[in-house]
Amino acid sequence: MTDEWQARAEALADKLTADGDLHTAEWRAAVRGVPRHELVPRYYEQEGTSYRLITPDDDASRQAWLDLVYSDTTLITAVVADSSGRQVPVSSSTKPDLMVRMLEALDVHDGHRVLEVGTGTGYNAALLSHRLGADRVFSIDLRPELVDTAADRLAAIGYRPVLRAVDGSGGLPEHAPYDRIIATCSVAAIPGAWIEQTAPGGLILVDVEGQLSAGNLVLLRRGEDPVAEGKFLDWYGRFMALRHDAANVGNAWPAVDRSQGEERTTAVDPVELDGGFRFLAQFRLPPGTQHTLTVDDGTPTATCLTNRDGSWCSVDRTADESGRYLVRHAGPRDLWADVEHAHDEWATMGAPAWHRFGLTVTPTAQRVWLDSPDGEHTWNLTT
Ligand SMILES: C[S@@+](CC[C@H](N)C(=O)[O-])C[C@H]1O[C@@H](n2cnc3c(N)ncnc32)[C@H](O)[C@@H]1O
Repeated sequence: MTDEWQARAEALADKLTADGDLHTAEWRAAVRGVPRHELVPRYYEQEGTSYRLITPDDDASRQAWLDLVYSDTTLITAVVADSSGRQVPVSSSTKPDLMVRMLEALDVHDGHRVLEVGTGTGYNAALLSHRLGADRVFSIDLRPELVDTAADRLAAIGYRPVLRAVDGSGGLPEHAPYDRIIATCSVAAIPGAWIEQTAPGGLILVDVEGQLSAGNLVLLRRGEDPVAEGKFLDWYGRFMALRHDAANVGNAWPAVDRSQGEERTTAVDPVELDGGFRFLAQFRLPPGTQHTLTVDDGTPTATCLTNRDGSWCSVDRTADESGRYLVRHAGPRDLWADVEHAHDEWATMGAPAWHRFGLTVTPTAQRVWLDSPDGEHTWNLTT
């Protein structure tokens, strides 16, 4: 068994290195040394809109599971039903390339104490425990069943980090301060508790996602005051959202009937809203706007925005002969007009990439900026 997984773990470390995701000997040793299969003994496979639990129960499925667990793949590990009965994934073991990139960006040194928000399977807590010693690792998750299971599985492979089932937005004050905080769930704004619980000079790495699920990873350094500042990373990573209520995973959004609504055309390619431009567009759109794609036979054919006030728009992703895109919209507000406005601003700023954005968090404000905290362009994060 040891040979079975170790050869695979080494191959995974080799692949992550060859792909340029993994650079340091310490994290390479962690990927080689942590048995991910012990933390992900089963997982869910998506089938259309539902999820099927895969439990390896014969030799063939065991080999397939081991191959998958030691490949560069996200594995969904917990699914719950929302109020309409729809299955929603609520935990996963993060894709290893993203995990190791984040761990290296966290710039961890011997002796550091690290708080992870989002224990999930415990795989990342195991990597941290391998690197620092489990007595320097603290990991919290909203869902007690995940924390209990992760604690048992981690103990079985020899790691006993401090694990707690709490809402991670409050951090874990009883063991603060931490040299590093890493979140593997996204936040709309940085919880004040994380800044208070980070030692001066310490780092916080988290995916900031506003409405439209628009955002990216930001690396903040805490100063002497409870103020933190830093840049968005120049590569991309996203996570499922931090929730405050484990039972409530549903959302009520207006239905989009694409046969209805007014028609017009736009010069703004909706595909652009798949990328970093969405980050700026979110600030122009009214609060409570959601972004979805209409998918026909596996291909996204339209981009939709819906708002709780009943406004919606649906924009075809293929241009007509004149290079314009058909917009259908209804409700009190033309949401695509907000996107067009944001697009003009974005183009005027030179279509900035992620690394040009930064974030400053004080006890009273959270401000996104372009190029410099004192620069001309700033936006407030909704807290
Ligand atoms: C992508 S998974 C984490 C993956 C994990 N680090 C691993 O190695 O398996 C995101 C996790 O965030 C957790 N989460 C969501 N809201 C939370 C909250 N308020 N506090 C702590 N954890 C939360 C979810 O329960 C889920 O387990």
